Formats: sequence, structure tokens, C-alpha cells
Amino acid sequence: MNKIARLEVDNQTYELPVVEGTEGDKAIDVSRLLSQSGYTTLDSSYANTASCISSIAYIDGDKGILRYRGIDIAELCEKSTFMEVSYLLIYGKLPNSAEFARFKERVHHHSLIHEDMKSFFTSYPGHAHPMAILSAMVCSLSVYHPELLEPNQSPAQRDQTITRLLSKVRVLAAFAYKRSVGEAFVYTRPELDYISNFMHMLFTTPMKQYVPDEKIRKALDVLFIIHADHEQNCSTSTVRMVGSSKANLFASLAAGICALWGPLHGGANQAVIEMLEEIHADGDNYKKYIDKAKDKNDPFKLMGFGHRVYRNYDPRATIIKRYCDDVLNHLGIHDPILDIAKELEHAALTDPYFIERKLYPNVDFYSGIIYRAMKIPTKMFTVMFALGRLPGWIAHWKEMVEDPGMRIARPRQVYNGEVGQAYKPIDQRL
Ligand code: SDX
Repeated sequence: MNKIARLEVDNQTYELPVVEGTEGDKAIDVSRLLSQSGYTTLDSSYANTASCISSIAYIDGDKGILRYRGIDIAELCEKSTFMEVSYLLIYGKLPNSAEFARFKERVHHHSLIHEDMKSFFTSYPGHAHPMAILSAMVCSLSVYHPELLEPNQSPAQRDQTITRLLSKVRVLAAFAYKRSVGEAFVYTRPELDYISNFMHMLFTTPMKQYVPDEKIRKALDVLFIIHADHEQNCSTSTVRMVGSSKANLFASLAAGICALWGPLHGGANQAVIEMLEEIHADGDNYKKYIDKAKDKNDPFKLMGFGHRVYRNYDPRATIIKRYCDDVLNHLGIHDPILDIAKELEHAALTDPYFIERKLYPNVDFYSGIIYRAMKIPTKMFTVMFALGRLPGWIAHWKEMVEDPGMRIARPRQVYNGEVGQAYKPIDQRL
């Protein structure tokens, strides 16, 4: 017997169906409230609103749980690879060996971009932020694949679009980096895996061939798995919003990249390092910054801390912190800002302000320290996040467009503007 919620307003009682998820999560379905009662619901940052029913990822914010298609993130980081997790998220199951071989072969096969696009990169100034370049290039890529812009794609066309983007966005990101350092573009090598090829495209130069390092490859593979999906976060919801108008996947992903750029979202990994460097330059005086974060009159926030959903430690931060130590020890690096990060974390986790508000380190708090150790420049950190999140964005777009009940997303509002105004000729205006 399905549960019913009852809403009483204007001496009327409205019965609203309760929807229960497979993990016990519950929602009140208000999709008929407006037609029944004339009332909409108001939830300005959607903090209390489920925008869809999805089977891709599940977060339990109180328990600090993250699962992709029912599999715990820690198990996937230990046993799987980013390519395999991409298949899992997009196609809903772990691939068998034949499916996986075919998938990897298709992704590798589409590793080239039209040579004309190289001139786009050189038109940007060297200081251009790679997120600006990446979002523009992903949308521009669509002009070379007009056959994939059909709003009602067949499953085969969708698969073609998906594998092309999964492969080429990595190339566009690497080319954006090469543009920023003024080096020649480097193409993938058939014998390298997805992650090693990305590192090769970043760090091979005409003078020196990048030599894959298994410890670094595994750490980056885990970082990409960790970033791969996270329910209806700001950028994934943006991809769904744009895709709901039947805009193509190129346009939807470009919009998701732009949403991710914000420092409250994926841009936080760059902001964390800039914050830690500022604290280091300020004599490692991290207590001063804890006080600033607590001061209501100070706009400063402890970047990499807090989360809309997690009211417990972000399970991804736990894993990344462990890889931080591994990678820095492996590379023989002692990075003073890692020490500051750990001091900051300890101070915050014992401070009532952060404890009362259940503010813990999130996925962005330690990730930049690993990227820094890998010699990836700070401005590329959010691009790394975007590459990791790519399969999640794609999976959500696919889940939505394959839903026969898909409708364009169009929220309502409460109007609080002027009423009953008339036009005034300019000579009668104050
Ligand atoms: C990501 O949604 C996702 O899943 C995102 C993500 C993903 O994988 O897609 O997990 C990736 O975006 C992680 C978050 C990265 N952003 C940051 O690290 C930026 C710093 N964090 C904050 O800006 C904030 O915590 C947010 C944006 C993450 C969450 O914001 P909310 O949910 O709107 O929380 P809030 O701003 O209403 O804060 C509640 C209280 C406030 O204090 P009071 O008004 O109750 O007194 O906590 C305080 C806030 O001032 N607070 C902080 C804080 N975060 C919240 N105070 C100091 N430092 C912080 N970082």
C-alpha cells in the first residue's frame, strides 16, 4: 500500500503520493499539486527538492556513503578502473570482457579531433583559463559531427556520440593545457590506457617522452573514479536542464562544464590550493583563517569544507587523503601546504563552529595537492574534475533522454515585483 502525504490549505486537504527509493530515501510527489490546489512549492536552491528519479548514484549524507549503481565508491576505487566505471555509470552494469574490449577500442578509435580545431586553441591568449577553452571547445566539437545533433537519436547514434565525447574531451583538455604552456599538441598512443594517454598528452614534449608511472596512473585513475558522479549536483542538474530541451549532448556538457567552474562547486579545488598558498605565505597562520571562516562579517569561507548533502565526512575525501600521502611519498615530495591542510582539517574538526554545522572536508579539499604533486598547474584542476565527471554527466543525460516521459524542465516562481503599472512617457519619469 503506497503511503500518502496530506497537505491541508484553504480548508482543503490534498493527498500527495509518497515515492520511496530502493535505499529507503523518500519523497512527496508534488507533480499534481498545482493542478489540484493552485499552489506551487518554493525551494530556492532545490535543497529539499528531488528533480528526478535516477538509478545511477546514491549518496547517504548522514552516513557518508556514495555508491555508483549500488557499488560502494571505496570498492570501485580499489578494484575497478575509470574506463570500467564509465561503462558502469553510462550503461548500468559492469561490462563483460567482450563489451569492455569493444568499449575501450571505440574510445581509443575516436581520440582524434578535426585538425581545423587546432587553430581555435591558438586563437586564445596564453593566459586563457582552460575551463573557458574546454567549454567552448566541447560545444564547437559539435560542428564536426552534424550527424550527431539529431534531437531524437537512435541508441546507436547515442553510443557514437557518447564514445566520441568520452574520448575527445580528454584530448581537448590536454590541448588546452598545451596551449597554456605554449607547447606542441601531442596525440594519444594506441598502446597506452585512457589515463596514461592523458598524462602522455599533457607531459610528452618533442624533447622528452612521458614515461607512465603506475603509482601516478593508479592515483589519477582513482581520482577520476571518485569524481565520476554525484547525483543531482549543480553541474549534473545543469546538464539535465539543458538536455531536457532536446539540446544535443555537446551543448549539455558545455553547460555542465560552465556550472562546474564556480568556486562553490568544482572550482573549489583550485580555490583550496590558492587558499592554502595564501595561508602558507601568511606564515602558516591557519588559526587566523579558521577565525575568518567563522566570522559572519567576513566573506571568507574555508574552501574544500562543507557540503550540501554530506553531514558526515565525504567518503571521497578520505580516499583522496590516503592517496595524497602515497603520491607525495612516492615522488619524494614534502609539500608544506599538505601539512597546512592537515592542521586546518584537525583545527576545524575540533571547533564547535564546524562541528555544529557538520562541516567536513569535501572532495575538493585534498585533490589539488595530488594534482600539484603531478605537476598539473592549478588552473587545470577544475578541468581534471570535469574529465572525471564526464561519464556521470553523460549517464544522466542518457538516463533522461531515454525516459519516454521526459519533459522540458521548466520550474515556476513566486512573483514579488510591481503590480498594475502603466507605461510613462519619458518626460513624465523622475
Ligand atoms: C562540490 O553537490 C555536490 O555533490 C557537489 C560535489 C560534487 O561531487 O558534484 O560534491 C562537488 O561542489 C563540493 C563542494 C565544493 N565547494 C567548496 O568547498 C566551497 C566551500 N563550501 C561552501 O561554500 C559550502 O559548504 C557549500 C557550497 C559546499 C554548501 O553550501 P550550502 O549547502 O548552501 O551551505 P550553507 O552555505 O548554507 O552553509 C550552512 C552554514 C552557514 O553558516 P550559518 O549561516 O548556518 O551560520 O555553514 C556555513 C555557512 O556560513 N558554512 C561554512 C562553509 N560552508 C558552510 N562556513 C565556513 N566555511 C565553509 N566552507
